[in-house]
Amino acid sequence: MKNIVILISGGGSNMAAIARAAQKEAWQEKRGLRIAAVISNQADAPGLALAKNLGLSTDVLSHKSFDSREAFDAALMACIDQHAPALVVLAGFMRILTPGFVQHYAGRLINIHPSLLPAFTGLNTHQRAIDAGCRVAGATVHQVTAELDHGAILAQAAVPVLPGDTAQTLAARVLTQEHLIFPQAVRSFF
Ligand code: GAR
Repeated sequence: MKNIVILISGGGSNMAAIARAAQKEAWQEKRGLRIAAVISNQADAPGLALAKNLGLSTDVLSHKSFDSREAFDAALMACIDQHAPALVVLAGFMRILTPGFVQHYAGRLINIHPSLLPAFTGLNTHQRAIDAGCRVAGATVHQVTAELDHGAILAQAAVPVLPGDTAQTLAARVLTQEHLIFPQAVRSFF
């Protein structure tokens, strides 16, 4: 059995999309893939309840309990490694990771970013795409490397930017595509 650990910070809709695809497509029985745990750095992340409702095991590790980024990442690695993961999935995990963390999971750490990388790394991607006059926006699943929002691209989806779009309306349109490409990218990883 190959274990997948999913890290979240918020709504967890991408985590749920992956979990639902795993159930629907019988990943465990047909592919030997199992979502071993969902870990949040936010105790009040709505995604935790969603994960529990999907029958997944959850854990919380608050970054606020640690003095440094290195100390948090070391504890997070220990928490993740209990599950001996073949793949660690960042699904709306809103923490910058230390080089040591990234190195530890090199080649088995993927992220979804709400832009068509290499455009718009970092935050506020939708507003920045609108402000730049982009006619298309989208999302990217990529390998995580030490440089933020870089690393080999595994999947992308594009959506139109429509007249009158706000960051919220564009984000919602992009998110529907995220829910399609992220489960596919996880499946294709193996
Ligand atoms: C998603 O749009 C994801 O692309 C983005 O956060 C949202 C999480 O939604 N990730 C980043 O911005 C990473 N820098 P979700 O919690 O409902 O999956």
